[in-house]
Amino acid sequence: MFESKILLYCSMGLKQIDHGSKEYLQMVNLRYEIMRKPLGLNFSQEELAKEKNDILIGAFDEDEMMGCCILSDMKDGCARLRQMAVQKNMQGKGIGESIMRFAEIIARDKGFKALTMHARDTAIGFYEKYGYKVKGDRFIEINIPHHIMEKKLR
Ligand SMILES: CC(C)(COP(=O)(O)OP(=O)(O)OC[C@H]1O[C@@H](n2cnc3c(N)ncnc32)[C@H](O)[C@@H]1OP(=O)(O)O)[C@@H](O)C(=O)NCCC(=O)NCCS
Repeated sequence: MFESKILLYCSMGLKQIDHGSKEYLQMVNLRYEIMRKPLGLNFSQEELAKEKNDILIGAFDEDEMMGCCILSDMKDGCARLRQMAVQKNMQGKGIGESIMRFAEIIARDKGFKALTMHARDTAIGFYEKYGYKVKGDRFIEINIPHHIMEKKLR
């Protein structure tokens, strides 16, 4: 397992992508398939338009997007991690971990002091592996239970 993760890190490309680019379209499709379609939901044009101010991150195998996430500036020194998703058939192979680590590097580099998120309850165990802590009570967003999680960036 360890060796296959090392191989994955070496072969996978992590990069920031531009809003409105063909990579961004791939990202929206991936997020729709993994996060919204199973809930019977879609993105509004208004929601997507706001993302032009965000930091958009994709993990690629050649030209194919394997996973993604978004960092939004909360204007209080923190960034909010959003829309973390990995292609269904590629989950459990370390892609989520490498996106998480890359997002933290970018966030530190941009001067953010902490990362925060609205974590789906089903993903809390994943974020806990990287030092994120639950804060506050459960709440419902897009019809499913979430908790706020956060971590200071050193
Ligand atoms: C959650 C998600 C992003 C994780 O990505 P992934 O590529 O599958 O995760 P990785 O393979 O990098 O896993 C890293 C570690 O986290 C663990 N892990 C992965 N998903 C987990 C989960 N949902 N709960 C608890 N642990 C999890 C893995 O077992 C692995 O542990 P290990 O290092 O001890 O082996 C991915 O499963 C996904 O897209 N899920 C559906 C969308 C979603 O829920 N997104 C989060 C919204 S808040």
